Amino acid sequence: MSVLAEARILKQEEVAPGCHRMLLQAPEAAGRAAPGQFMHVRCGSSADPLLRRPLSVHDVDRGKGTLTLLYRAAGRGTALLAGLGPGAGISLMGPLGRGFSLPAGAGLRVALAAGGIGVAPLYFLLKELVSRDFFVYVLVGAQTAEDLLCGDDFKLLGSRTSFATDDGSCGHKGPVTDLLESLLASGGVDLVYACGPPPMLKRVAGLLTGTGVPGEISLERHMGCGVGACLSCVCKVRSGAYRRVCADGPVFPVEEVVWE
Ligand SMILES: Cc1cc2nc3c(=O)[nH]c(=O)nc-3n(C[C@H](O)[C@H](O)[C@H](O)COP(=O)(O)OP(=O)(O)OC[C@H]3O[C@@H](n4cnc5c(N)ncnc54)[C@H](O)[C@@H]3O)c2cc1C
Ligand code: FES
Repeated sequence: MSVLAEARILKQEEVAPGCHRMLLQAPEAAGRAAPGQFMHVRCGSSADPLLRRPLSVHDVDRGKGTLTLLYRAAGRGTALLAGLGPGAGISLMGPLGRGFSLPAGAGLRVALAAGGIGVAPLYFLLKELVSRDFFVYVLVGAQTAEDLLCGDDFKLLGSRTSFATDDGSCGHKGPVTDLLESLLASGGVDLVYACGPPPMLKRVAGLLTGTGVPGEISLERHMGCGVGACLSCVCKVRSGAYRRVCADGPVFPVEEVVWE
């Protein structure tokens, strides 16, 4: 069940050029959120922009009742958010959507692949996986070294973290999916989760096809209501039907999504 609540900003910092991390006092949402779910955030105090903006739950601390968002200032709404400081209040709706399914059993080797701001939902997921004693590879990609997000945070959680940058300024030079391709070729991974731009996710889907390795991906769509009513966020699935990213996703089994 989701909640509508006013949350107070405790801290806001720019962690990479144009990317911000916002710590919120939001005990109800923090208590209910699961990895891969998102919050529908009102970005301004007036009716403009009218629509809320979806942002993934990046982290929660249930003991302290805090919830963290990690976002790129992409346009008007997120720029307004970036201008807020500690003490300001924002309206949150959520947690919404279906998140990542967590594997049962023990000893699985899991790969998380993140492109750009796609790291946002994967940090919370990593925390859950590590707490269940899974061995996790984290593959983080960005355009340049200074755009890489959360590398130290991932390492601190004990994952094996590798980097890829478009310009080669950190780690592998090339797309983060190259790292995933090598890992899959080594036979060292049993399960993959990914979040990033559509071309990256399409490549992840291609790499997993025929390997027998299951995967889940988190999709982005422009959203209106965020709760399954307006149909502005649909994506096509294998059956030929359309699914609502806000309510049936945003996380889908990788083989289910049709790339148009
Ligand atoms: C389930 C979900 C979770 C998300 N989680 C995060 C997150 O954790 N961190 C983060 O930085 N972003 C996340 N996004 C993307 C974020 O919602 C958009 O960047 C944001 O809505 C842009 O709003 P704006 O008013 O700042 O920009 P606008 O002025 O509305 O748009 C600026 C640019 O961003 C593009 N854009 C707008 N909305 C989306 C969207 N939903 N998907 C892709 N491109 C979009 C526009 O086409 C335009 O080019 C998520 C999106 C979804 C659907
Ligand atoms: S945003 Fe309205 S149905 Fe998904």
